[in-house]
Amino acid sequence: MIEVTCTAPINIAVIKYWGKRDEKLILPINESTSATLDQSQLCAKTTVAASPDFTSDQMWLNGQEQSMDSARLQNVLKEIRRRARKRKSDGSGEDRVNWHVHICSENNFPTAAGLASSAAGLACLVFSLSKLFEVEGDISDVARQGSGSACRSIYGGFVEWTMGTEVDGSDSRALQIASETHWPQMRVLILVVSAKKKHVGSTTGMQTSVKTSQLLAHRAEKIVPERMVEMRRAIKDKDFQTFAEITMKDSNQLHACCLDTYPPVTYMTDTSRDIVRLVHAVNNHYGENKVAYTFDAGPNACLYLMEDMVPTMLGLVQNFFPPEQDHGEAFLTGLPSKVSTPSQELLNAIPLEPSVGAVQYIIHTKVGPGPQVLIDQSESLLDSTGQPKSSTQ
Ligand code: DP6
Repeated sequence: MIEVTCTAPINIAVIKYWGKRDEKLILPINESTSATLDQSQLCAKTTVAASPDFTSDQMWLNGQEQSMDSARLQNVLKEIRRRARKRKSDGSGEDRVNWHVHICSENNFPTAAGLASSAAGLACLVFSLSKLFEVEGDISDVARQGSGSACRSIYGGFVEWTMGTEVDGSDSRALQIASETHWPQMRVLILVVSAKKKHVGSTTGMQTSVKTSQLLAHRAEKIVPERMVEMRRAIKDKDFQTFAEITMKDSNQLHACCLDTYPPVTYMTDTSRDIVRLVHAVNNHYGENKVAYTFDAGPNACLYLMEDMVPTMLGLVQNFFPPEQDHGEAFLTGLPSKVSTPSQELLNAIPLEPSVGAVQYIIHTKVGPGPQVLIDQSESLLDSTGQPKSSTQ
């Protein structure tokens, strides 16, 4: 049996991907930009093993056996095996490529909570398979075929996903535009508003949007191309004013397109909208952008801000969205930070009433590197026979 264990990060888009021009190859209708988040707080972990003794391909996610029937999963496996065979055309180790695989994957955060779990999971699967079968070169186009946003999790730091023009999708790839060390003051606060499963998944939501929203068509053609250029410059120049403005406007436009979808799709809740008001009130109070919000296909807020603003923002979130009295788990998780008590002047500038329990918990994190191979054998999720070490079945 050969095996490898890897971790891969989530990424949070600041210019959003929403809509495909090719459903099978997963080719987007517009380019997008994201930051990859540190894996100490949020990551997917996957062990893949191959053996001549395995009788079929099998997969387990968070301890539950999964069907291997998904077309996306099959496409990804087929493409990795094809590349591996091509590389091993001298015959060395070619038989291994034909062995069945066992895949065991875990997230260290709730699946389908709007926390980009599919991006981390698929990126981790593709990265691990590429290591197992010694596939070299860019694999972001393979990850893209697993889940669009997964292609951006193949790289650390700040990443763009280019649309490409080839019909086979071969030039629709992710590209790192700045590494994780480029903007070291950048911090991220994820406000988990609801960890429940979302109602309309992003795949279905964006399909309906492409079919029915004229606003989305306009966005893809006219708005995003200019934003991509401006955002690239803002990141290169560490210009937080522009970075924050585009991030917020682009999130708002995604959710406006969702409302323009017929029938409409809604992801943001009253709490999400209160967070938007909080952020604008803070920026207004300071007379400049100190913090930016962005929302994906769920109600959780992701805030981008500079390190020196973290204690103030944490103080404000605790003030306006305090945990329930009997809140069992830690309210603030991730990187350690001070929490400062907001001044009365700042509190007076915010048009909100405290809403107890509306935010479940906060994850404090930062921009981080791409997928990693774990060398320590004890990290493996599979036992020596290729079965999951822990299984709920
Ligand atoms: C709102 O990558 O989950 O998070 O390609 O159908 O798997 P599929 O969709 P997915 O969509 C993510 C959408 C988003 C925005 C983004 O990450 O850019």
